Amino acid sequence: MASPIEIGSGDRLFVLTGAGVSAESGLPTFRDSNGLWNGYRVEEVATPEAWIEDAEKVWRFYSMRRRDALNCEPNPAHYALAELERNVGERLFLCTQNVDPLHERAGSKRLFHMHGELFRSRCEAECGRPEFVDDGIYETAAAIPRCECGARIRPHIVWFGEIPLEMDRIYAELDRCTMLAVVGSSGTVYPAAGFVEWARRSGARTIYIGPERPLNAVMFSEVVLGKAGEVLPGLFRVSKTQ
Ligand code: APR
Repeated sequence: MASPIEIGSGDRLFVLTGAGVSAESGLPTFRDSNGLWNGYRVEEVATPEAWIEDAEKVWRFYSMRRRDALNCEPNPAHYALAELERNVGERLFLCTQNVDPLHERAGSKRLFHMHGELFRSRCEAECGRPEFVDDGIYETAAAIPRCECGARIRPHIVWFGEIPLEMDRIYAELDRCTMLAVVGSSGTVYPAAGFVEWARRSGARTIYIGPERPLNAVMFSEVVLGKAGEVLPGLFRVSKTQ
């Protein structure tokens, strides 16, 4: 077990989570051989081109993921991050690449889903109607709901080739954090894979947590090898003089 990382009163912690934080909840990571995309190639379901080509297939895929997410529970890693927020408040910035709702279900309140959310949908035409909560299962073309403007409703997911959400806020937080912890992300998908470099430039301590070294491991000042659910609960010690 690594020695605890002290969070002092002057620290600001940026945490980025990836698919690995939900692995122990039973949601497969993208790059596992029997992963989430099984039976689906990424281009078939997670690109704007796929939506134009076959919206029914895209919704079938996200309907399957909605079902999977409903059937699992947060794990100790999610709970540890929710507790950390209770202890350090707004000096924790939690940003996830995951679209599942497990951080919220564990009790995290301030959370930024940079790749969107599985249980939200929006108008494909961006007519001005804001995205909204949606747990619908749409498995046929006829079942795909329509917006008041007449366009189809699509998942509120950032697909490959689209711009992640909240990027201005995210880079501002990276600029002012003193520590960056990345949990369970392979370091292959940008811009998230570049956050470590960005935070390092402003002098932050950078820590990776996961069972194997990510592709961008050399950029981190520390790599803690282990499962998120086992490592995170004891990893941070919040200084009493907060
Ligand atoms: N605890 C921590 N990390 C784990 C665990 C675990 N129990 N199990 C697996 N991992 C690690 C793997 O070692 C791997 O490095 O989680 C990582 C998962 O990597 P990816 O599947 O590539 O997930 P991620 O980096 O989040 O993918 C980024 O790619 O497909 C897109 O938009 C999608 O947000 C996603 C993005």
